[in-house]
Amino acid sequence: MCGIVGYIGERNAVDVLVDSLKRLEYRGYDSAGVAVCPDGRSAHAAHADGRVDIRKTAGRLSRLEDVLRQEPLAPAPVGIGHTRWATHGRPADHNAHPHTDENQEFIVVHNGIIENFAQLKRWLAEQGHVFQTETDTEVVPHLIRHFYRGDLVAAVREAVAHLKGAYALGIMSPREPDKLIAVKQASPLIIGLGEGENFIASDIPAVLQYTRRFYVLDEGEMAILTRDGVQVTDLTGRPVEKKVTEVTWNAEQAEKGGFPHFMLKEIFEQPRAILDTMRGRIDWEHGRVVLDEVALTPDQVRRFEKVAVVACGTAHHAGLVGKALIERWARLPVEADVASEFRYRNPLVDDRTLVLVISQSGETADTLAGLREAKARGARIVAVTNVVGSSVAREADDVIYTWAGPEIAVASTKAYVTQLVALTLLALYLAQFRGTMDVAERHAVLRELKLLPRKAEAMLARAGRMEALAREVSRWHDAFFIGRGLDYAVAMEGQLKLKEISYIHAEAYAAGELKHGTLALVDEGVPVVALATQPALREKMLSNIIEVKARGARVFALIREGDVEVAAHVDEALTLPSVHPCLAPVLAVIPLQLLAYYAAVARGTDVDKPRNLAKSVTVE
Ligand code: G6P
Repeated sequence: MCGIVGYIGERNAVDVLVDSLKRLEYRGYDSAGVAVCPDGRSAHAAHADGRVDIRKTAGRLSRLEDVLRQEPLAPAPVGIGHTRWATHGRPADHNAHPHTDENQEFIVVHNGIIENFAQLKRWLAEQGHVFQTETDTEVVPHLIRHFYRGDLVAAVREAVAHLKGAYALGIMSPREPDKLIAVKQASPLIIGLGEGENFIASDIPAVLQYTRRFYVLDEGEMAILTRDGVQVTDLTGRPVEKKVTEVTWNAEQAEKGGFPHFMLKEIFEQPRAILDTMRGRIDWEHGRVVLDEVALTPDQVRRFEKVAVVACGTAHHAGLVGKALIERWARLPVEADVASEFRYRNPLVDDRTLVLVISQSGETADTLAGLREAKARGARIVAVTNVVGSSVAREADDVIYTWAGPEIAVASTKAYVTQLVALTLLALYLAQFRGTMDVAERHAVLRELKLLPRKAEAMLARAGRMEALAREVSRWHDAFFIGRGLDYAVAMEGQLKLKEISYIHAEAYAAGELKHGTLALVDEGVPVVALATQPALREKMLSNIIEVKARGARVFALIREGDVEVAAHVDEALTLPSVHPCLAPVLAVIPLQLLAYYAAVARGTDVDKPRNLAKSVTVE
């Protein structure tokens, strides 16, 4: 996830771009840059010395502002800007956007992932193009240059026809400085409509201080902006009639994309984050997982004798799901520890152990110490993290990035579901090499993965119901979350969400274990959230539900679509769309996140910054 902006008009583009980027920093803040065309005021400025000025740097936007103070840009009427959250290529000055061709004639900012960049890069290099960065984006200006024959719009159309993946692009050229081009495919992009000026941005809040009138671009649309107008077409050049969206949000709502809290916004970003994390990692044609970022050979994978998962908090809960999937498909024994325990228990880890380190931030002190402990014992370290260039990413042997984009709310939501997706892919990948999984079964899981973003949207459509149920939840003092197998792992995450933001005491229990002591606490009216999404364990789970009901528990259950029998035994039933049982956790967690969120709102807590907690815990 990155933020892009563009401006064309009477103001100084540099000021507008920096100002708008400040409102997009939540989308990424590891590097930033702007490019302007000083010649843009002339409609016929395609003269020989038409040039572009670029300032870009690793670090936050404030660092770019320092650079701009030291080396100011001349006022210019047209420009593009970017705030980055690295996916391909570590955060570094040269990897910061905007990117250009060798002659700096075609300038591009990009949000998204070009899935086929490696093939395109090889092909362009054969044509003599010289690359300067490790980014996927850099192929775009080179492609445009390749196709340019005096018509920028035509060249962009030809170039994007070769791109696979997700892209919101802002494009300009000193050859045609009277225009800006925007293209949208699967990454968000809006056009701000002004008087004698127009804007491009990743989202509306970025330019809300300049205009309240917008076009929201749809898939496969291109906009050609001049100072005086905006023309929207499809990618073949056919004009598209756009409706103007008028926005009435206030500034605070705008920062959160119209949501009252970052947490809710991030919950709603999950379908997109799930899709992004799968992007380029599945070869749909051959039904295989492709993890180019993992440099393990089939032989190395077959040599592993076990896996150890090291993580904290929500990442640990994702690891519990990963453990089940790796054991099931790759037939390798997996231990999953919280990092603060792992490092002090003299773990049995050696060069035949694959250590899986999971961390949203990549900076958690205990997790990092666990990683170092395992490394010192000779283990191979594969990290799953959301932050490119983080300590965990730097110190691991291989990194699978979750492409969730920055997570601002302390309570983790979209990072968790993307960790689940990354771990699912890793489990399938290990199984491929070990030959331990039925091919038809792998194909079935991959088919289901493809449908997950849409099913996650269907879960989000139930937010109203969760809000209504949360009114009751907000009055609870204690709750039990019970489940078996993967449902137990999700129950752990569900109870944590409720505790950390609503401050309601909650405990997760393996449903079959309740009767060995804890059942003594289940009495008239005691709330129990029961997860029953796993067909193989359904009968046993039903017995456990009947057990707690018999003691007077008030049961909210998460069940599979059409499971009328379980529904008949509980007080409130929430259904999951039909889904492969191994992928059910991705969907099951969504109502639990929403329940916790709305309960916290009803109790008036500080949802995004719960008391005593921090987003990234860099002390032991
Ligand atoms: C903190 C956060 C949790 C997070 C945990 C691990 O406690 O509040 O939400 O799960 O750290 O963080 P990491 O960045 O390593 O995933």
